[in-house]
Amino acid sequence: MIKKTVVMLAMATLGSAVVVAGESLVRSAEIWPDNNGVHINAHGGGVIVHEGRFWWYGEHKIDGKAGNNAHGAAVHVYSSKDLVHWQDEGAALTCSADHESPIADGSVIERPKVVYCKKTGKFVMYFHNELRGKGYTAAHLGVAIADRPQGPFKLVRSERPNKGLLPEGFNASSLSADDKAKAEKFAAISNPWDPAVHPELSKFPYTFYGMLKTGQMSQDQTVFIDDDGKAYHICASEYDATLHFTELTDDYLHSSGKWWRVAINDYTEAPAVCKRGEWYYLIGSGCTGWKPNKARLYRAKNLRGPWERLGNPCEGTNTVTGQSADLTWGGQSTFILKLPGKDRYIAMFDIWRPENAIDGRYVWLPIEFKEDSLTIPWKAAWSIGEP
Ligand code: GAL
Repeated sequence: MIKKTVVMLAMATLGSAVVVAGESLVRSAEIWPDNNGVHINAHGGGVIVHEGRFWWYGEHKIDGKAGNNAHGAAVHVYSSKDLVHWQDEGAALTCSADHESPIADGSVIERPKVVYCKKTGKFVMYFHNELRGKGYTAAHLGVAIADRPQGPFKLVRSERPNKGLLPEGFNASSLSADDKAKAEKFAAISNPWDPAVHPELSKFPYTFYGMLKTGQMSQDQTVFIDDDGKAYHICASEYDATLHFTELTDDYLHSSGKWWRVAINDYTEAPAVCKRGEWYYLIGSGCTGWKPNKARLYRAKNLRGPWERLGNPCEGTNTVTGQSADLTWGGQSTFILKLPGKDRYIAMFDIWRPENAIDGRYVWLPIEFKEDSLTIPWKAAWSIGEP
């Protein structure tokens, strides 16, 4: 009886993360309290496993619309042993009080992803960085480094990557003078959605060529570590039209100089990547800002492609909000976590709440693999079990 009361109390107070008879249940789209009973504040994030603990890094939001920009603890980190009970570990990367800093209070610091480099023993954070007061025009890649998983991470640089480097397999002499001029023109525009340029820009496949001088735009992004320990940065570029894959150096800090373009003019954002068997999978979204749209799945046997576009892997209806799989249950992809040593993968999404950013919700669901593809069926509550 007492036991039952305790369990019921635990269910009432914990909401999303409920422990019943040793079972840990994940309840997507609900409030996820941390060890202090506060809704977890780690949006657009990713999870790593280090020395038996999970570390979840994500965007720290504040109340209201102001929370769509970075303030205070720009990247918040939590740790857990079971992926359900999360301990607040504080700010991994903090905004700078200097308004000229790329990570100034009020800048944009989105989709942080951390990787541990075995070779250097350092933790490296990659994030999408926009400069204070400049909207989404800078399209910088931010890199920060730390000695410990909880940080503090120190900014290494913020810039457009791959400056002066042509993508693999591209022969500049194949470009006509007219295309070169167009590439320069499109690289200099301020609003890619301007109806005066968008129809032409969205079909033009060489905008990256005009960006050789500035470096390539880097917006929604992730980092993927392959089985051989090589790391790859993957980002939406060319005003979100095309994904750029960049092989990183062995210290995970720089571009190796090798990069290539994927899903050209498909307008795919929010990339999340995993590998299973002989297939690499990439889940992404379309481009509708904070508003949800239909997810898309790609697969390839080689990171360099060819990447084949499949359909929407999401299935079912969000039982909390009523949103369908056609709208990714109101969410947008951010990360795929492979459980170490297991054939189990968790797909992670954010339900953004731009009117009150701190109230954003999380959707974590187990991936189901079928032959050479995958699906992600909605589950109101599911057990992670032994992670
Ligand atoms: C989304 C993107 C988010 C954020 C947002 C801003 O498309 O995935 O990370 O940048 O736009 O409107």
